Amino acid sequence: MKIAFIGYGNVGAPLADHLQKLGHDVSLAAQDPQSDSVQKALARNQYLQVASPKTAVEQADVVFLATPYQANEAALSALAHELKGKVLVDCTNPVGPNLTHGLNSTHSGSQAIQNLLPDTQVVKAFTIYGFENFEDNAFPDSPVKPAMLYCGNDATAKKTVGHLIEQLGWQALDVGGLDQALHLEHMTLLWIKMARVNKTISPHTVWAVLTKSCSN
Ligand SMILES: NC(=O)c1ccc[n+]([C@@H]2O[C@H](COP(=O)([O-])OP(=O)(O)OC[C@H]3O[C@@H](n4cnc5c(N)ncnc54)[C@H](OP(=O)(O)O)[C@@H]3O)[C@@H](O)[C@H]2O)c1
Repeated sequence: MKIAFIGYGNVGAPLADHLQKLGHDVSLAAQDPQSDSVQKALARNQYLQVASPKTAVEQADVVFLATPYQANEAALSALAHELKGKVLVDCTNPVGPNLTHGLNSTHSGSQAIQNLLPDTQVVKAFTIYGFENFEDNAFPDSPVKPAMLYCGNDATAKKTVGHLIEQLGWQALDVGGLDQALHLEHMTLLWIKMARVNKTISPHTVWAVLTKSCSN
């Protein structure tokens, strides 16, 4: 599959690296091919391709967005035409002061993106944990896989993203339509508060799903 990354810092670079190693054709959408973030991503994996944002997105089947939330509108507006009909994986989180929701919990960042790009299939994924867990999500001593929760309105787009999530070693848990993105963004705030602020859990902590089979 052809995959483009808009943003390849803490979150985007390890995901791009792993997806390339799984055999995907991964491009970095780069305004400046000499930028630090391009060079760092290439130092991690020399087989990542680099193309102009328009070319990378135009040629991709799936586009990952891993930019600071405040940069989303500028980054996406310039690519609105190329993003038509594409699957956009929104890895971003709107975070406000003192770890509040950046849009005052009125709506999610993903819904804002969907409103900006009505002809693009937005799927929210890879947001609810710290980047360490995108670097390495192996839990060799665990009998269950780590869970990646994702949501979106388009069933076909979700199937595609769910498959990528599974290829990356997660249990893919479809939590519903894009209206659920707000709840995923609150889950992110919960994780950040626990792992980064209160330090009551290790940043190498993720959630898993246990389901009991019951007759009733
Ligand atoms: N850090 C985490 O643990 C974590 C976990 C889950 C989700 N997230 C979310 O993921 C997103 C990225 O976080 P991060 O920690 O990976 O950030 P980061 O390390 O700062 O990387 C951001 C990337 O976005 C690029 N970028 C910035 N402004 C841009 C623009 N206007 N157009 C195109 N690209 C632009 C940067 O390129 P330059 O360096 O060249 O500017 C860089 O490649 C955020 O929304 C964050 O909330 C973060």
